[in-house]
Amino acid sequence: MVIHIVHGSNLDRLGNRQLDIYGSHTLDDQVPILKGWLDKHWPNVELKSFQSNIEGEIINYMHSNNGSGNAFLINPGAFTHTSVAISDSIAGLESPVLEVHLSHTYARESYRRNSLLAAHTCGTISGLGWIGYRLGIEALLSLQKD
Ligand code: DQA
Repeated sequence: MVIHIVHGSNLDRLGNRQLDIYGSHTLDDQVPILKGWLDKHWPNVELKSFQSNIEGEIINYMHSNNGSGNAFLINPGAFTHTSVAISDSIAGLESPVLEVHLSHTYARESYRRNSLLAAHTCGTISGLGWIGYRLGIEALLSLQKD
């Protein structure tokens, strides 16, 4: 099985942007840590990572990796609240998609409480920082077994 961690807009700047909200970790330091953790517990599961600030590139990435044996953990960044296009794309995927946010989006500005994607995902984890990614991966693996 392959778990694809997909990051959307501005998340390439994690570790440099709004440190008080998103923390000082970067994708480059956290993704290898997640890979090491996954390898230790589920050596047969592969982790791939993709980030783009461009909506269409996220859609293309998900379409080209859709299908059995694939699952997506997506932090869409601000596309969460704006992207009908990514929402439509997820609605048409066979692979499960779980939404994750580093910050507690429900405790922030009111516009962050609405996710256009949530209706088509199998769940949302919000506000747990990088722990949320581990929980999200565990959830996707458990759902796959059911
Ligand atoms: C975010 C929350 C979004 O509202 C925001 O636009 C982001 C990051 C998070 O991980 O907390 O860019 O997805």
